[in-house]
Amino acid sequence: MNISMPSPSGTMEGPLTSEQDKSGLSSESGRLTLTSIDLHNFLRTRRSIRRFKPDPIPESVIKSILTTATYAPSAHHRQPWRFAVLSAPKAKTRLADAMAADFRRDLEKDNVPENEIVAMIARSRSRIVSAPLVVILCADACEMDIYPDTRRKKAEFIMTVQSVANTGMQLLLAIHAEGLGAVWTCSPLFAPEIVQSTLELPKTWEPQAMFLIGYPIEIPAVRERKPLSEIMVFA
Ligand SMILES: Cc1cc2nc3c(=O)[nH]c(=O)nc-3n(C[C@H](O)[C@H](O)[C@H](O)COP(=O)(O)O)c2cc1C
Repeated sequence: MNISMPSPSGTMEGPLTSEQDKSGLSSESGRLTLTSIDLHNFLRTRRSIRRFKPDPIPESVIKSILTTATYAPSAHHRQPWRFAVLSAPKAKTRLADAMAADFRRDLEKDNVPENEIVAMIARSRSRIVSAPLVVILCADACEMDIYPDTRRKKAEFIMTVQSVANTGMQLLLAIHAEGLGAVWTCSPLFAPEIVQSTLELPKTWEPQAMFLIGYPIEIPAVRERKPLSEIMVFA
C-alpha cells in the first residue's frame, strides 16, 4: 500500500511539501510517498529519550513540531491543549528549583532518607535543566462544556484529558520525525499549582505533562511490547 499525500501548501500549516520535509522519507515529483512499512517502522522506532546533546533546537523546528502536534484529533474539535515552551536556561532552572522544592516536601512526608532525597532531587533537577527544550503541556479548562451533574462533568474532563494526550503523542511523533528525541514525564501532575505559578500560566491552564526534548545522545533499542494475545480479545 502506498499513501500519497497531497501537494504542497507552502506554509507551516497543512500538509508539508517535500522541500519542507526533513524526515528523509521518499518523495517524488512534489508528492510525498510513504509506504505502510515506512509508517509502521516510523511508529515502532520512536523511543523515550532521556539524555540529550546540548545543541539548541532552532525556533523553526520548535514551531514545526508544535504545529504538527495541533493536528491531533480532539473532542468537539475544541483543541484544549496549551503549551508552555522553555528553552532559556534561567526559565528551566526556575522551574526545576520550584519543582525540586515541592518534590522534597513529598519525599519528606514519605519519610524517605535524606541521602536518597538529595540524590532523587538532583537527578530530577538535572533532567530539566540539561534538556535543551522543555514543553509543559496543559489542558485549558475553558474549553470544557459545563454540565450540572457529576457523571457528565467527569466524562467531559476525561474527554479533555484524552484530547490533550493525543496532542502529546503527536508531539512525540513530530519530534521523532525531526530526528530529535523526547521523554514524556508526568511530574507536573504532582505539582500543578507550582508549575502554574512559577511559569505564570493562566489559571485555567492545568499542567498535564512535561516533555524533555533535544538531540539524542543515543537511541535505545526498541522495547519489547506485551504480545497481542495478552491484551486483546475478539469480542
Ligand atoms: C503518561 C506518561 C507518563 C510518563 N511519565 C514518565 C516519567 O515521569 N518519567 C520517565 O522517565 N518516563 C515517563 N514516561 C515514558 C515511559 O516510561 C515510556 O514511554 C515507556 O517506558 C515505554 O518506552 P518507550 O517510550 O521508549 O517506548 C511516561 C510516558 C507516558 C505516556
